[in-house]
Amino acid sequence: MRKNSKGFLFLMILAIFALVAAGCNGGGGSGEEGSGSSSGVDIGIVLPTKDEPRWVQDEERFKAALADSDYSTEILFSQGSSAKEKENVEALLNKGIKVLIITPHDGAAAAAAVEAAKQDDVTVIAYDRLITDTDAVDYYVTFDSLAVGAAQAQYLLDNVEGTGVPLYLYAGASSDNNAFLFFQGAWEVLQPKIADGTFKIANSSQAEALKDTKELDRDQLSQIIGQVTTNWDPNESKNKAQTHLTSVGDDMKGNVAILAPNDGTARAIADVFASDAAVTDYLITGQDAEKASVQYILDEKQSMTVFKDVRTLVEDAMGMAVEVLDGNTPETTGSYDNGTTEVKAKQTPVIVVDKENAKEELIDSDYYKADEFTGLE
Ligand code: BGC
Repeated sequence: MRKNSKGFLFLMILAIFALVAAGCNGGGGSGEEGSGSSSGVDIGIVLPTKDEPRWVQDEERFKAALADSDYSTEILFSQGSSAKEKENVEALLNKGIKVLIITPHDGAAAAAAVEAAKQDDVTVIAYDRLITDTDAVDYYVTFDSLAVGAAQAQYLLDNVEGTGVPLYLYAGASSDNNAFLFFQGAWEVLQPKIADGTFKIANSSQAEALKDTKELDRDQLSQIIGQVTTNWDPNESKNKAQTHLTSVGDDMKGNVAILAPNDGTARAIADVFASDAAVTDYLITGQDAEKASVQYILDEKQSMTVFKDVRTLVEDAMGMAVEVLDGNTPETTGSYDNGTTEVKAKQTPVIVVDKENAKEELIDSDYYKADEFTGLE
């Protein structure tokens, strides 16, 4: 008996330990807790990948914004997988979220995840990337993506010298609706300048075939993007750039212009062009104002970036979520057609940054700290 009661006590202690440990795990989620309790979550946030600084920036800005929120939140990353994304959404639904803020890895594939959320009466806010071909998206917070592409193209135009300048085109992932908007915005500015001989296309037979068409439809955009996609992957960008430079003659080198869709791909492509002796100079675009690219710009290895102030997007998304939780209707400024429905949207403008205004736009606005860079003027 004595022995048995000791055994019972031991089991009780073990059970208490197990309970305490489970409590500390906060339900064993793979993401990070924001403010609030671990028992239930009000707002679930799903971001596409930790592998790109762009989305780590968003996570940091969300955390800063959440610090004094009354609602509890949890942020999960999908690591470039639609299956993982769906699991994340389901995990958050199990925690009782009322609002889902989600940047899809693949805009069409994410429809299944948000339809599951809708079945649980959750309000869905697409964050930065639109979710397509479903009516299960309530709101969309976004930057002006057509303006991003237009600004990149305009920068090339404003800084190019002479005529017959080789133009290398690169695009984002076809699974991302933004890649279409960026390219479309850029093409509308570049096309007349391709037609008048300022630029000559160096790396895309599909773009060459469409060089007289200013307004491309979705299929035509797909044909070009399919050929020059980076899939948002720096390695793929590097490999493509190497292949392109290997296959062209010296008449497509010299001073060149490069439309790179974002900073991660721009740095990879810039490194390839910089190491080709027959390339005497290059102009190259980017977007996101990633720290590494800001340094590239200061070092004159990247020409510009399109600064998308993530603080504003986070503020808009959280503002909408709080309105919904408070029982109000969020304010929107327009809408986006996602192939099935018009999604009510709030859109934020973008800012062109190059070496001239980097300090003013990024440091003086407290987006970054001066000591994170060298060579700031
Ligand atoms: C975003 C960009 C980002 C890209 C790759 C796009 O949808 O708008 O800011 O660079 O995805 O992640």
